[in-house]
Amino acid sequence: MRIVLLGAPGAGKGTQAKKLIDKFSIPQISTGDILRKAVADGTPLGKEAKIIMDKGELVSDQIVLGLVKERISQPDCKKGYILDGFPRNTSQAESLDKILAEMGAPLEVALSVDVDFDVLLKRLTGRRTCKGCNQMYNIYFSAPKGTNCDKCGGELFQRDDDKAETIKKRLEVYKSQTEPLFAYYGKKNIVKRVDGVGDIDEIFKKICSLLNK
Ligand code: AP5
Repeated sequence: MRIVLLGAPGAGKGTQAKKLIDKFSIPQISTGDILRKAVADGTPLGKEAKIIMDKGELVSDQIVLGLVKERISQPDCKKGYILDGFPRNTSQAESLDKILAEMGAPLEVALSVDVDFDVLLKRLTGRRTCKGCNQMYNIYFSAPKGTNCDKCGGELFQRDDDKAETIKKRLEVYKSQTEPLFAYYGKKNIVKRVDGVGDIDEIFKKICSLLNK
């Protein structure tokens, strides 16, 4: 199954992607995670990307396309994958389609997790992630029992781009550059939408039924 996850920053794409990985044994390809790793590793690409990410803007198409093309060619993507945070604009979507046409394996579903903007703000400012195992928490909705990760005891951190001012910019960029993808994938008849507000497991059940799984 080849899926693209659509939805605003904080809609729960990453949260639901983790559940899809467990159920379908296909990898999640998150361009945000790949870029954050490059930032943490201090690579030249990471240094370039950090300046843009901290402003809440989009990293250049050229950078992300190279990363995605390389990743989807790996053997573990043969059975399918979950693209999370990519494509982010129509130009990225067109480039992806060309790459997939060459591979003879087009996208099957563009799944949107829908959440109102007022809820997103709380989700993003409240998000905490484990440095050790990437488990996600939210101090408002799903707080850890203590100050560290419930699963592995790792230290929890707040993303640099989860500050109120940067969040505002990310939501603006989403509206202007990413929302047009609904029309793009709508023409291909592959859009499925789920209400992303409510219990995380219930949302996942709805996703599975949308995917007929
Ligand atoms: P990226 O990492 O892709 O971030 P994003 O799209 O802004 O999405 P998020 O990761 O913030 O949110 P999410 O929908 O995954 O929500 P989550 O599950 O974490 O991108 C970051 C930056 O990298 C971009 O701004 C850009 O600069 C760059 N970039 C990345 N891809 C790029 C590309 N293709 N081109 C150019 N630049 C690119 O959930 C959020 C919170 O809500 C968590 O605390 C979670 O626990 C909680 N939560 C989730 N579901 C629920 C629920 N049902 N109820 C209550 N709380 C919930």
